[in-house]
Amino acid sequence: MIVLFGATGYTGRRVAEAMVRRGLRPILAGRNAERLAALTQRLKKPGLGKLDVVCADISDLAPVRALIGRGDVMVSTVGPFHRLGAPAVRAAVDAGAIYLDSTGEPPFIRRVFEEFGPLAQRSGASLITACGHDYVPGNLAGALALRRASARVHRLEVGYLISGGGRAQVISRGTGRSALGLLTEQSFTRRDGIRPEPTGSRTPTFTVGGLACSALAVGATEHYTLPRLAGPDGLPEVDVYLGRLGAATGLARLAYRLVPALLALPGARRLVRGIGEFALRWSAEEPDPVALAQVRSHVVATAYAASGAQLAQVRLMSGDPYQLTADLLAWGAQRAVDHGVSGPGALGPVQAFGLDVLVAGSAEIGLRVIAGME
Ligand SMILES: NC(=O)c1ccc[n+]([C@@H]2O[C@H](COP(=O)([O-])OP(=O)(O)OC[C@H]3O[C@@H](n4cnc5c(N)ncnc54)[C@H](OP(=O)(O)O)[C@@H]3O)[C@@H](O)[C@H]2O)c1
Repeated sequence: MIVLFGATGYTGRRVAEAMVRRGLRPILAGRNAERLAALTQRLKKPGLGKLDVVCADISDLAPVRALIGRGDVMVSTVGPFHRLGAPAVRAAVDAGAIYLDSTGEPPFIRRVFEEFGPLAQRSGASLITACGHDYVPGNLAGALALRRASARVHRLEVGYLISGGGRAQVISRGTGRSALGLLTEQSFTRRDGIRPEPTGSRTPTFTVGGLACSALAVGATEHYTLPRLAGPDGLPEVDVYLGRLGAATGLARLAYRLVPALLALPGARRLVRGIGEFALRWSAEEPDPVALAQVRSHVVATAYAASGAQLAQVRLMSGDPYQLTADLLAWGAQRAVDHGVSGPGALGPVQAFGLDVLVAGSAEIGLRVIAGME
């Protein structure tokens, strides 16, 4: 059984559609009965009938908790996760269920691995956080680069680089709210263990297909999951970056440099959050669908030796990141319900499903390896 919590949001609706396309019958959960009824009516298909719904706010998840048991799957797209994410994880941990979510927020990812992961180990639950565009492709590319490297890997660097879409709005308002959290909350990296650092502490330049961009250092799941795949020698350093190809590189670099310095000033975090929340009110709830269809995501994972020599590089590519997120969550939920996952605790997607299964599943939904498998 699969419960999709947050089904009425922009991402949740797309996940629900992707699940129905796969022939799944998720129970749609959300806080608004009218929106749930409209969604289940819209998803109705001959032979499938109407999907069941359950109404629950995050402040009282008892109706959702009552549905799920050991081995059931709960998918959550209720965000921003640093404010609203924890109750769904707790419900999954209590039930010993398999939990997947769409977050990309560093503080929440850190909580899942450090706070909820050990609880899940004890209850038998499995937690696969950030199981969308952020951050499955980097886990996949990083794992392939580790497998391909001929010597000990000291540092793995992953770049997520977006191109296309012009100046149109290509993120949802919900993603905007979460991105604001990404800028104003503490992030982390890996240097012989997890180290706190502000988002954007480093801004290297990436080049893909002749286009250059400055990218921003962020905390992601790769920092926790890739060292587990590196063998007995471990993986001392992991860096993950987000950037937009073709953006005015110099300007972006300057902005990224200024943001951490600005946020260190007293009261600045609240001010930036307030201005951001105000600006988001004027944004559309959903991305521009025409522009979004032109967006491409390029993910590059590079493995380095301690000397700095490059040992392996793997490149992946996909289209619309929201479609990829919806398809990854639907694929992951189906795989988890049909075959289970590798064990309890907080898991990365490679650890949960297995590398070759994830490569095949990703290719099926349009996340393709374009270099590094030859
Ligand atoms: N990792 C990735 O690559 C990726 C991709 C896509 C999205 N995301 C993340 O996914 C999250 C959702 O994005 P979105 O675009 O779908 O945002 P959204 O449209 O704002 O959806 C948010 C959802 O949360 C629900 N919600 C809010 N407060 C709630 C409460 N108190 N109780 C129960 N439900 C509540 C909303 O319910 P209502 O419908 O009733 O308002 C809605 O279903 C964001 O954090 C975004 O950053 C990540």
